[in-house]
Amino acid sequence: MTAHPASPDKTQAAGPARWARAMSDPAAFAAEQEQLGHVWTFLGLASEIPAVNDWFTTVLGGRSIFVQRFESGLRAYENRCAHRFYPLRIGRTGHGPVVCGFHHWRYNAEGRALGIPKCIEMYGRTPRDIDARLREVELAQCGDLVFGRFPGRQHCALAEWLGPGHAILARLGEGLGKPDRFACEVAANWKLMMGISLDDYHVVAVHPGSFGKAGYIPPETIHYTRFNAHSAYLPGSPPGTLQAIAEACRAGNYVPERYRIFQFFPGLIVALIKALDYAGDTYWFVLIQHLEPLAPGRTRTTTRFAPLPFGRPAGPVRKAFRAFTMPWMRLGVRIQSTRIHAEDHRACEQLQLRASQADAMPILSRQETRVGWFEESYARILDGHFEPDGVIESVSGLDG
Ligand code: FES
Ligand SMILES: [Fe+2]
Repeated sequence: MTAHPASPDKTQAAGPARWARAMSDPAAFAAEQEQLGHVWTFLGLASEIPAVNDWFTTVLGGRSIFVQRFESGLRAYENRCAHRFYPLRIGRTGHGPVVCGFHHWRYNAEGRALGIPKCIEMYGRTPRDIDARLREVELAQCGDLVFGRFPGRQHCALAEWLGPGHAILARLGEGLGKPDRFACEVAANWKLMMGISLDDYHVVAVHPGSFGKAGYIPPETIHYTRFNAHSAYLPGSPPGTLQAIAEACRAGNYVPERYRIFQFFPGLIVALIKALDYAGDTYWFVLIQHLEPLAPGRTRTTTRFAPLPFGRPAGPVRKAFRAFTMPWMRLGVRIQSTRIHAEDHRACEQLQLRASQADAMPILSRQETRVGWFEESYARILDGHFEPDGVIESVSGLDG
């Protein structure tokens, strides 16, 4: 497998290459997002909207959408009124029935405008006759994680799209409780941010005080697995590890023993990190990073993180000790993660400054293999191939 992205386009002297075009051209970005809005995309956590009429907003396919809990369950709609396109939801999260703030049209759980003030007087018709509807987003859950897509182009179930990642995400998303979170906007394209998380070659230059302190990652540590449009870095592990993790997650007995990171196309990054071995316990955390593309050169990133269950049972004394220690572990993870993210964001913002000059294919190293895989999946989906290819392949440093 080549580490170079296979794009059907040749290098364009006049502008960015195809893989980079949507990073600087607003029309290309809009077309890219329109297409990507039809693939299963992470939207948020169901546990963050526990009560009927709780909602959150996010973006899908370049459009603002909202996800809301109704009596009948979760539904999601494009966040604009059918009347005059006023935003139905303003802000990131909130609570209340779907009533537009401009003229008070009221929508039911099916997205139909059934409460229209002075309807007969204003329109000479009933709301049923007008039959105004919101554009619906199709939803599916993987444990607590909510995914959505605009219907019509991709037909596979979410479990098929995620492949072995489905069992892993379902298990890791269990029992997050109230995860800690940090979020910010970055002046860089979402693909640059995804790309840096798929790149293990930059650690020395960009993270000299942490990941890169010990130098470059030794080749024998490398193990990448690709599954459908997604991939994972499973350092120091034999082929088949992804499937073994999925199996253990399905059986409910997965305990991490090394750093792991999984990237789900298009914009979800899930990492397992060890905070500390302390007093006979290992403190493991799961980090869930969500990239929301806002503009060619602007991305919102939200990271939620929470401790994973301990691998060994505890009596009352140990439980009390863990409860005392945990806030410090959380603080440590927050400080370390925000620092590493900030270093990555600075690098992505520099890359963004030259995005319009990316007029050739990148020269990818072995430790950027997954950037190449990602670009292949990206090109495939932009070409209209929405269904998962079912490919599972692994590369390790020892393969030469
Ligand atoms: S724009 Fe929503 S009710 Fe008029
Ligand atoms: Fe990094």
